[in-house]
Amino acid sequence: MDVLLAEWLSLLLRWAHLIVGIAWIGSSFYFIWLDLGLKKSADLPEGVAGESWMVHGGGFYHARKFMVAPPALPEELHWFKYEAYFTWITGFLLLALIYYWGAESFLIDPRVLALEPWAAILISLAFLAGGWIAYDLLCRSPLGRNTTLLAILVFVFSVAAAYGLGLVFSGRAAFIHVGAMLGTIMAGNVFFVIIPNQKKAVAAMLAGKQPEPALGLQAKQRSTHNNYLTLPVLLMMISNHYPMSYGHPQAWVIVAGVILLGAVIRHFFNTRNSGGGGLAIAWQFPAAAAVALGLVGFTAVGLGGPGSGELAETPSAAEAFAVVQARCVNCHSAAPSHESFEEAPGGVMFDAPDQLRSHAARVLAQTVLSDVMPLGNETGMTGEERALLGAWIRAGAPD
Ligand code: HEC
Repeated sequence: MDVLLAEWLSLLLRWAHLIVGIAWIGSSFYFIWLDLGLKKSADLPEGVAGESWMVHGGGFYHARKFMVAPPALPEELHWFKYEAYFTWITGFLLLALIYYWGAESFLIDPRVLALEPWAAILISLAFLAGGWIAYDLLCRSPLGRNTTLLAILVFVFSVAAAYGLGLVFSGRAAFIHVGAMLGTIMAGNVFFVIIPNQKKAVAAMLAGKQPEPALGLQAKQRSTHNNYLTLPVLLMMISNHYPMSYGHPQAWVIVAGVILLGAVIRHFFNTRNSGGGGLAIAWQFPAAAAVALGLVGFTAVGLGGPGSGELAETPSAAEAFAVVQARCVNCHSAAPSHESFEEAPGGVMFDAPDQLRSHAARVLAQTVLSDVMPLGNETGMTGEERALLGAWIRAGAPD
């Protein structure tokens, strides 16, 4: 029963996380597009930087941007903040459900570091909070005044975090924690800087004063960071089923590539939305393609992974099946004997040779090209066994 409950909780939370995440990123993309595409016209009132006409869903919309604030506050003002808060909250609950509750299976890998669950959970929490604090201090320091330098430092900081996490957690947990840290920074920017600054501006206006432009500039800097971090974070969040990313021994290099890739693609849209054309938008997609190819190439170096050993002859189905019987079925069976699993994880079972055959491609990715399975190598699978499975699958899984 508790397993069923956990699965439902996980599905519903993931669903909620996606919904609020789409709402957050959707509105953020929309406002960036709106902001960058504003046009000036002769009849704009004082203090209005630009306007935009839009048509959607059968109606016409007319938006104007007041650079600092309008002369008088409207009665009703819509804030966009709960999308960000709930994205963080649902994301954190999902992290807790999968990686804290299931710490021994998913957070800890004894081959990396044999942590007690409570210690691993504390490290995770400290890391998320510490990541925000370090980033915030960096932005507030004198270094934060130079936008380009700051961007480079935030990049280096993220890659260093990925490296450090790889020394502590399982590959999969390390990867998701980089995403969670960057996601926390993004939500922190909204909660601690962007919204409070906007509130201060509103309060100043209500007191009959002119809001300080510096508040707006600081909010703009943070919102630009959020803009460029969005795409890389999304990729990290969906990377969980792709062991060639998080399962790589130098996953931090992949993190670096993913951040570059996402930021460059985002840059294309930002430039195009603000009216850029020609050379200004000609380089991003070729550059992104080069980075993506670089990532493929990087993971292909030494391809074969932990199961790259050569075999004299093609193994038989019986030999391959014997390996998964010995190393996998304590978890991957209709009735697992492993104490943490009441059902076959991911619905993957190896009770019959045909089941192994039908999952062959995924087995190759999880056990031969990477050593993600068996989880934490609990069952002590050897390199020869990985090579045997690999040779059998590559030969077309013969009888
Ligand atoms: C200690 C338990 C355990 C052992 C042993 C284990 N697995 Fe898994 N396996 C899991 C869990 C848990 C998941 C689900 C991961 C997830 O939620 O994405 C999984 C998922 C998988 C998947 C699906 C991954 C995907 O998302 O595509 C494959 C394939 C797989 N395991 C293969 C194997 C093979 C092959 C072995 C033996 C060499 C093995 N596993 C041993 C626990 C185990």
